[in-house]
Amino acid sequence: MTEQGGFHSIDAVQAQLAEAGYVCGRALATVVFLSARLGRPLFLEGEAGVGKTEIAKALATVTDRPLIRLQCYEGLDAASAVYEWNFAAQMVAIRTAEATGSADRQALQAELFSEEYLIARPLLQAMQPDTRGAPILLIDELDRTDEPFEAFLLEALSDFQVTIPELGTIKAPEPPTVILTSNRTREVHDALKRRCLYHWVDYPDFDRELEILHARVPQAAETLSREVVAFVQALRTEDLFKKPGVAETIDWANCLLALDVVTLSPEVIADTLGAILKYQDDIAKLQGSEAKRLLDQARAALPEG
Ligand SMILES: Nc1ncnc2c1ncn2[C@@H]1O[C@H](COP(=O)(O)OP(=O)(O)OP(=O)(O)O)[C@@H](O)[C@H]1O
Ligand SMILES: [Mg+2]
Repeated sequence: MTEQGGFHSIDAVQAQLAEAGYVCGRALATVVFLSARLGRPLFLEGEAGVGKTEIAKALATVTDRPLIRLQCYEGLDAASAVYEWNFAAQMVAIRTAEATGSADRQALQAELFSEEYLIARPLLQAMQPDTRGAPILLIDELDRTDEPFEAFLLEALSDFQVTIPELGTIKAPEPPTVILTSNRTREVHDALKRRCLYHWVDYPDFDRELEILHARVPQAAETLSREVVAFVQALRTEDLFKKPGVAETIDWANCLLALDVVTLSPEVIADTLGAILKYQDDIAKLQGSEAKRLLDQARAALPEG
């Protein structure tokens, strides 16, 4: 990392992420580099389980900054994203004051709306100073929220400050590094996208997926790892309702290890398919001779090495 909070080069991004166990292609490393250099939010879209969330975690590790995650869901509102007053604690304080007959009204009011009773949610947390430097703010699965929240987010991301009527304005001393992700269950608004650098995180090719497996399941023997990756790659070319992501490849390799499998066979595949396919219709497609056909196809496509 350089002093301004960026990386020295695109190669440095790749190398440092690799050290943290994240295998990053050149194109992704480039937008990460630019995002850090220009201070622009990074917007990552892609299928499930391709490493969108993981890159934020890896970035926090390599830059030694706190990771703050705002998990989006339907109905997420500003209160849950920015701050809330601790209503229960306020009530207790009021009751105590009443019981002891101590506090005068104004002092009590001021106390109840002080930081002591404030619950900072992720966006506010990301704007508070931290000795480790500006945090990485992960706004995960943005497509699950609704448009009003997106509009609100657009505001928040443009100035990195929050006004709390009772307390005043809190402004980030240094803007956080923002990573937004989406599974694209709906299109995110152009206005928000325009603020960000965009990258589509695709399924990795054979070599990169093998590299990921080396990083994540180093105990797996080379032959088995290669077969696993080749089979998953072949599976992705099939017409499936839900294609397996990298997360599934890793899970599967771990399952096979636990079963002491040294090489794939149609029987082993049939027994462990639940680790890579999560829909009955997809599993049904691989019954009978299908698994064998795909395995043959995968083995034939295995590169030399
Ligand atoms: N490039 C990569 N390098 C190392 N590990 C990876 C990589 N891509 C994915 N993984 C692994 O796959 C798992 C799933 O990745 P992650 O949770 O980031 O997926 P995602 O794209 O956020 O999926 P979803 O859309 O379902 O949230 C991670 O735990 C990580 O171990
Ligand atoms: Mg994710």
